[in-house]
Amino acid sequence: MANRKRTVASAISLALITVTTLVLTVFGCAEYYRQYANSYNRLKTQLLVSTEQLSLSLALPIWNFQYEQAEKLIESQMLDRDVAAVQVTDLLTGRVLATRVRDDAWLPRPAQDVDDDPELLRQRGGVFYNSRHIAILDVWMSPRFVRQALREHLLYMIVQILVLNLAIVGLLWIVLNRAIVRPLKRVELHAAGVVDDAAQPSPLPPQPELLELDSLQSSINRMVSYLQNRIGEARLAGDRITSIMDAMPSLMIGIDGNARITHWNHAARERTGLDDPQVLGKPLVEALPGFVPYMEPLLGALERLEPATLPGVSCTLGGETRHCDVMAFPVLHQGGRWAVVRVDDVTDRLRMDQLIIQTEKMMSLGGLAAGMAHEINNPLAGILQNVQNVQRRIQPDLPGNQAAAREAGVELERVGDYLERRGIPEFLRDIRYSGERAARIVQNMLSFTRSTCSQGKCPVRLDELADRVLTIAATDYNLKKKYDFRHISIVRDYAPDLPPVTCSPMEIEQVLLNLLRNAAQALAQRPEGEAGADTPEPTIRIRLFRDGDCAVMEVSDNGPGMEKEVGRRVFEPFFTTKSPGEGTGLGLSVSYFIITRNHQGSISLDTAPGRGAVFTVRLPLAPGPEAPGQCGIPDTPVSTD
Ligand SMILES: Nc1ncnc2c1ncn2[C@@H]1O[C@H](COP(=O)(O)OP(=O)(O)OP(=O)(O)O)[C@@H](O)[C@H]1O
Ligand SMILES: [Mg+2]
Repeated sequence: MANRKRTVASAISLALITVTTLVLTVFGCAEYYRQYANSYNRLKTQLLVSTEQLSLSLALPIWNFQYEQAEKLIESQMLDRDVAAVQVTDLLTGRVLATRVRDDAWLPRPAQDVDDDPELLRQRGGVFYNSRHIAILDVWMSPRFVRQALREHLLYMIVQILVLNLAIVGLLWIVLNRAIVRPLKRVELHAAGVVDDAAQPSPLPPQPELLELDSLQSSINRMVSYLQNRIGEARLAGDRITSIMDAMPSLMIGIDGNARITHWNHAARERTGLDDPQVLGKPLVEALPGFVPYMEPLLGALERLEPATLPGVSCTLGGETRHCDVMAFPVLHQGGRWAVVRVDDVTDRLRMDQLIIQTEKMMSLGGLAAGMAHEINNPLAGILQNVQNVQRRIQPDLPGNQAAAREAGVELERVGDYLERRGIPEFLRDIRYSGERAARIVQNMLSFTRSTCSQGKCPVRLDELADRVLTIAATDYNLKKKYDFRHISIVRDYAPDLPPVTCSPMEIEQVLLNLLRNAAQALAQRPEGEAGADTPEPTIRIRLFRDGDCAVMEVSDNGPGMEKEVGRRVFEPFFTTKSPGEGTGLGLSVSYFIITRNHQGSISLDTAPGRGAVFTVRLPLAPGPEAPGQCGIPDTPVSTD
């Protein structure tokens, strides 16, 4: 919208016009009334004189009854344009002797009688002859021409006032423009330069001639240079703050008391893909919709002016669900509240922490297992040895046994017959088989936790590794959690040509164990009534095969599978569908981390409700920096169709 404010010149000119017009009008009016009064009085005097003179002139003609002569005298009186009517009346008879009245065209004409118009001035005089009163003379005069003259005078005055005003305004306009407006404009331009660009101040205008303007300009010049310095400093400070905030790897977001964004650093731009114009001045939850649940504690912190920390909360950054530490640091500045919100993506750190915890658990399990193995191995050895001895000492063909039987007076064949009938050798074989199985489990536990290269990577045969993990998993049944490997059929489908894979065996064992446990837990979820003749037996299948330079380990089950929404989130840390205490939701996220980060491999899922789940782990046969990600993350890590 155009600036409708008046300029200095127009304001002063208008004020001056108003004042001069008022003054001249007042004086004009006073002058008008003075003139009017004078003219009116002059008219009255003139009426008096004319009446006197006419009555003297009429005396003789009327005495001699020369009325025509009287008419002529009256006619000559009517030459005076101010005279409106004249009438002579006989004193004795009251008869009108002579009369003249002006008609509408202001021409004199005889009339029977004269209308006594109150507008007109009237003068009555007597006509005397030798001191005898013989007639009455009436003269009427009109102020019409006096008024007309005054009106003309008034018009002349108005024109005079207007011309005078115009002359004053024009002169004033020129003077004001030169003396005030132009110098003010130059000072204004100089001052406006500060706002437009403080780095390049506009040149100082020349000194004005007027003293007051000169001192005003000096003050403004001082103010301008002061402001330029302050603006420069403020910009520098602002730039420094922006650089500091931009240098931070965390998302640093400034918000005002209404949670509207005032600052948005480089990390925030990068992680969210939103630029300053898209977010500045907008509510925080508009830029980060995932923050809705955290607004209450953040605004509470702003209200109380106390810092707040929300550790490890779930947040969406650039369309990806991550885990974040959110901190708010409120500030009270010049009576207004605002806060710096710091958001740190801690997803990787959490995964690493969990990995360390898991690894430490495994290491401590290793120590425990080593001690247990030592303790269990000794009695196991005694049991196995003694069972072996008992089996040997009931064999009928050994000479030592035959000699002992003879001495005891029994027949060895009949003792053997008795033992067979009671199933003793069968029991002994069972004791020996179970003992040997226990010894194998202890041995596997030891090798599981004390791999020769558990701290680094070494070539590992995945089939052996899978067998070892299966042995461990088979012991990992839990009645409370209602899953049991003993009721699940395990299908091993190992390709014979699979070469050893360079990996950390302990970590891959951990991944496979997580997958097997999840599969067993999922199979245990099948409703009781479902088990029938047509229901396929709960099965876990492990496939190992080579695909180019990658080794592929596939763990599939014929359990309930997953809904699309669940399948999409299984690799998220802390995502679980199990009740608290049953699952932490870390198994697959730690596995994902181990495979993708530690082995440059990939892990993907193919599932659908009722169709079981297939987890596919791809590992480079020989990972190295020269071939990063050759078995890397597929485009769609989760397929749920
Ligand atoms: N084979 C599977 N069949 C069906 N659902 C599965 C299968 N494997 C994983 N899931 C789903 O994925 C979720 C996440 O698995 P994850 O192993 O990460 O955690 P969890 O098993 O719940 O807990 P934890 O492993 O810490 O005990 C599970 O809660 C389950 O809902
Ligand atoms: Mg799990």
